[in-house]
Amino acid sequence: MTTAGEVGRLLVRLRSGQGRQDPYPVYERLRAMGPAVASPLGALLVTDYASCAEIAGSPSWRMPDPEWKDRWVPRWRDYPMVGVVSEALMQLNPPEHGDQRALVLRHLSARTVRDLRPVIEAHAAAAVDRLAGRLAEWGRADYAELVADAVPLQVLCDLLGDPFCDPATLGKLAGDSQLMLEISPGRHELRELEEQTRRLYDHCLAMVDETRRRPRPGLLAALLETVGVDQRHWLAIQAQTMIIAGWKTTSSMLNSMVLALTAHPGQARQLAEDPGLGPQAVAEVLRWDPPVQILVRVAGPGATLHERPVAEGQAVYLMVGAAHRDPGEAGDPARFDVTRTSARRSLAFGLGPHYCLGSRLAQTEAEAVLPLLLRRFGTRLALAAPPVRPRGLAFRDVTALEVTLT
Ligand code: HEM
Repeated sequence: MTTAGEVGRLLVRLRSGQGRQDPYPVYERLRAMGPAVASPLGALLVTDYASCAEIAGSPSWRMPDPEWKDRWVPRWRDYPMVGVVSEALMQLNPPEHGDQRALVLRHLSARTVRDLRPVIEAHAAAAVDRLAGRLAEWGRADYAELVADAVPLQVLCDLLGDPFCDPATLGKLAGDSQLMLEISPGRHELRELEEQTRRLYDHCLAMVDETRRRPRPGLLAALLETVGVDQRHWLAIQAQTMIIAGWKTTSSMLNSMVLALTAHPGQARQLAEDPGLGPQAVAEVLRWDPPVQILVRVAGPGATLHERPVAEGQAVYLMVGAAHRDPGEAGDPARFDVTRTSARRSLAFGLGPHYCLGSRLAQTEAEAVLPLLLRRFGTRLALAAPPVRPRGLAFRDVTALEVTLT
């Protein structure tokens, strides 16, 4: 079979139920074909750590902008909300990107996260209490719903200063709108997501209007004060960006944490005995099973890879999940090891100009949930059923994770 045929077949496997449960054997096959292989999607698939890090960290590799999409993505302008999502921070290029990032960063600093820490810990404790209550009553419970989805939604409400402060409604509106950032969505998916993203965007506009009337301390009120009320659309985009970027990613990490610990009771025991390993364990979860599996970049003028020029406009998919299991980067990469120190070099939060603005916040959430789980359940938490994983290649999402106690 030709390389292109083989890559196509592996991509089909990646999209299958089996591939979504465990994409790592497929990544290994792809990596064995070379660091950058052509795919039927038009983009090069980049699978080794060094190449992924070089591209993500380089300013000459850009985000696919509307001009690029006009050339390469047929009829994308038929979906106006796709256009609105293109205005999100992570989709922008210089000079807009740097200016807007600096504005948002002013109100999403290390101090913001430090101030939120007690609230995060309280939300985590309440969620783990609900999980324990449900387990006591029914013998099994959906950890994804009660903890992994719930905690980040609550934290987003507090971060934004959401004037409606209704995490359940926010969750319903956000649905799986992160799929807007999926690679090559089909027509049917686009139509569905168009509707969903419009509802979320309208809700964000309402949040902005309500914040104007009754400001609640948080990111929205702070940004509103900085840019003024006539930037209503921009403010709604920032709120929507935080929800799309910050909810399901964090939820995915919290789900992977339980998947890793239930699959490796020896590691869970070690963590229970030495809680100081918590931050390192969170880093290892993010290396072992990163929530964002694929980053997209396009070669700008003068872009290179390993000092070789790359044609302008060439798209690449940086396969973060594959890069994290690159044996050149991590020894025995398939092993989940909470004492691994190199996990901190992971690409889970990206690298370079677009490095995640919520990384500290997300890690704080995981560091709050982890000790509570270990203290409450020790190593007794077990899966009652395999995780339910929805469609999509770029996000490692889980929609249900039934757990029980052994
Ligand atoms: C475990 C949780 C999270 C993961 C794994 C994650 C991952 C990422 C990654 C990989 C990027 C870079 C995308 C690229 O280079 O193409 C990114 C960017 C971003 N993330 Fe996160 N993220 C998480 C949580 C959050 C949270 C909680 C927020 C906010 C509340 C957030 C807000 C953002 C924003 C605004 C950007 C765009 C930054 C820019 O383009 O300058 N993320 N995230």
